[in-house]
Parts: sequence; C-alpha cells; structure tokens
Amino acid sequence: MKLCSPLLLCLAVALSSAFVISSPSMWTKLILTHHWPTTICVMDHCHSNISYWTLHGLWPDKGAMCNSSWHFNSSEIEDLLPDMKKSWPDLLHPLSTTFWKYEWHKHGTCAAKAESLNSQHKYFGKALELYHKLDLDGVLKKFDITPSEKYYTFSQIEGVIENFYGVKPKIQCHSSKHADSQLLGQIEICFDPDFTLLDCDKQGQWDDHMAVDKPSGLNVCDHNIPVHYPPLP
Ligand SMILES: *[C@@H]1O[C@H](CO)[C@@H](O)[C@H](O)[C@H]1NC(C)=O
Ligand SMILES: *[C@@H]1O[C@H](CO)[C@@H](O)[C@H](O)[C@H]1NC(C)=O
Ligand SMILES: *[C@@H]1O[C@H](CO)[C@@H](O)[C@H](O)[C@H]1NC(C)=O
Repeated sequence: MKLCSPLLLCLAVALSSAFVISSPSMWTKLILTHHWPTTICVMDHCHSNISYWTLHGLWPDKGAMCNSSWHFNSSEIEDLLPDMKKSWPDLLHPLSTTFWKYEWHKHGTCAAKAESLNSQHKYFGKALELYHKLDLDGVLKKFDITPSEKYYTFSQIEGVIENFYGVKPKIQCHSSKHADSQLLGQIEICFDPDFTLLDCDKQGQWDDHMAVDKPSGLNVCDHNIPVHYPPLP
C-alpha cells in the first residue's frame, strides 16, 4: 500500500500555501475607539463623573491576542501614566491597570506587528497622540454637539464628525427596548497603517470580526431614532 499518493501530497501543498496566502499576519486598518463615560456607566452600572470622551482602545482590524507571552508592564509606560489615567481611564475599576492590560493583550500585541507600534510605549503613546490630535471632545463642543437633555438627530452628530475630519466614523448607541431614543455610546475613527485618516466602513482587505470588540449593549446607531447624548447624572 502506498503511504501517500502524489495527488494528495499535491493537494496538501496547495492547501498549505493557500492558507499562508489567505492569512497574512498584517493588519490594514487601525480603529481609535472613544466612549462616552455616562452611557458606559448606564450600561455597566458604574459611577463616573467624567464629562469628556475617553479612550476605549486602539484596535488593528486583524488579529486578537497575538502574543500571550508579552506581558503588560506599567513601568514601561511610567511617563505616560498621568495622561493614561486622564484620557484612558478604567471606568469600572478606576484604580487598577486591568483595562490597559486587557487592551494590550487583546489588541496591542497584534498592533505590535508594525514597527511603529512594536513596544508598549509606542502602542500606548501612539493611541494617546492620536486621541489628542483628533480632539473629538473639542470638535463636538465647537460645533454645538454637547451633552443635553434635548435629543439630536443621528445625522447632526455624524455630519459634524464627517465634515470636520473628512472621513466616515462608526458611531454606536445603546438602546433599551421600547425607548423613544438611543444613548450615544461610542465613536470610532479609523486610520491606515501610516496613521492617515480613513473611512471606518472601508473594508480592510482582511477584515476580522474577532479583532474588534463588540461591547454588549452597543450597536451601530439607528439613523431614524433620536439620539440622546446624556449629561452627567
Ligand atoms: C470625580 O471623582 C473623583 C474620584 O471619585 C474625585 O476625586 C473628583 O473630585 C470628582 N470630580 C468632580 C468634579 O466631582
Ligand atoms: C512575543 O513576545 C515576547 C516577549 O516580548 C517576544 O520575546 C517574542 O519574540 C514574541 N513572539 C512573537 C511571535 O512575536
Ligand atoms: C518591566 O519593565 C521595566 C522597565 O522596562 C523592567 O525593568 C522590568 O524588568 C519589567 N518587569 C517585568 C516583570 O518584565
């Protein structure tokens, strides 16, 4: 009996090279995710008195948990910590590094495949740099989108962001059943690997749904339901 046939061998070789070709390790898009603390705390039952948009994460569109042996080490970002606490606070556990550790393991270790992000200092430093450069909170205020008990239309909010940055964001809301409005929760703004702004709905060549956190309770906002941008309770 033959151990293997040339046909099977050829097939195996063809399959393995196809696998390599169809699963490149490199991501093609970065998603800078901001969230609105009041809405997150409605969903997760926390208490926050922060009334500006904070960072949720910087996510490559491809890959998750890329290197489990690359441990988060806050001493490597010692100089960034004051800004991290202000701009990227853990809303659920305000005094711990749990959130940053999670973001590093899940997304940072994959982002680190690019030389520009291949250390914890580069990764967290770049996220903070992009966050300050965009100044989403300032832009919304400047165009009169402020936390309010009155509702906005979805296109008022989307329009301000699109006009100012010249790219399409992805905007997510929290809605409870039977409500006549939805709560503004999360705003994603996207970049290419050179950190140039990019439309978020532009499909990455290798879009990977595992790579992107879909927080339970948040969905892309419904264009036809009024949007509540809630002030501090
Ligand atoms: C917000 O909460 C923090 C921690 O609980 C507290 O130190 C700070 O004074 C509060 N700020 C305001 C404006 O209430
Ligand atoms: C994973 O991270 C460790 C620690 O930084 C590093 O030594 C190793 O080369 C990394 N592995 C891969 C596959 O990148
Ligand atoms: C954490 O980083 C610091 C500074 O780079 C280094 O001296 C220390 O050995 C690291 N700790 C661990 C557990 O890797």
